[in-house]
Amino acid sequence: MGSSGDNHDLGLVEMRRRMLIVGNWKMNGLIETARELTEDLLAGLAGRVGGALRCEVVLCPPATALQVVNQHLGGAAVKLGGQDLSEHEIGPHTGEICGIMLRNVGCWYVIVGHSERRANWGEENPRVARKMAAAFRDGLQPIVCVGETLDERDAGRALDVVREQLEALYPLLPSQTGKRQQLVVAYEPVWAIGTGRNATPGQIQEVHGFIRRNLLERLGDDGRKVRILYGGSVKAGNAADIFALEDVDGGLIGGASLKSSDFLAIIDAVPEKF
Ligand code: PGA
Repeated sequence: MGSSGDNHDLGLVEMRRRMLIVGNWKMNGLIETARELTEDLLAGLAGRVGGALRCEVVLCPPATALQVVNQHLGGAAVKLGGQDLSEHEIGPHTGEICGIMLRNVGCWYVIVGHSERRANWGEENPRVARKMAAAFRDGLQPIVCVGETLDERDAGRALDVVREQLEALYPLLPSQTGKRQQLVVAYEPVWAIGTGRNATPGQIQEVHGFIRRNLLERLGDDGRKVRILYGGSVKAGNAADIFALEDVDGGLIGGASLKSSDFLAIIDAVPEKF
């Protein structure tokens, strides 16, 4: 199963990965709602101990709310992320937003290749890889989503699909060690997104362990530093069991990130690891 406990013990502090909890608001949040949600979250996080101290928290509101959320975050530890970016640089690309613009409005991270974009906007592996490269070029940390559909799982192809999605990324990863380690991979089985249907801990660890082995094989020691998030109907009630899994380094949270009490309860569930 993935990297063994022994492996984790080898480099001690050097190997530690900070748990990461990302709220993906998707196409939700007018200015007023975004402001309220951000304020509620910050109020909830203030003075919180436990999980809140053990993880990095990122909010990914829709593009139209990035600025207002950024203003409210101020100097808080919570970071901002975009939900998508153009593979192109500034120029004549109507309707697109590039990495420099996301940086300009305060983003540190950007989600790339979410399954809703893969399915509805024709984003295939090569374009997802180019978007990842654009994120690195523009100084953002990409959170690249991978995951199989129900048909692919039923056909016994889940790991093959995830392998193909990962393999498309490697040729376009930056060569510098410090940068490659900033890659974040989110495993989101498509059939578990927004459906309330959960992957079992066994299914999750199987794929996360597979991703970790693939990263180690292709990136050597840098692959140990890459964080692997799980996403797909993570809720307060199942978060602790999922986050406790060996190769799960946090979560990409959709629906449950839209209510501050739910999102805070998920943050509280982050365990002490590594
Ligand atoms: P969900 O969405 O938590 O609502 O299932 C997760 C995601 O799509 O990132």
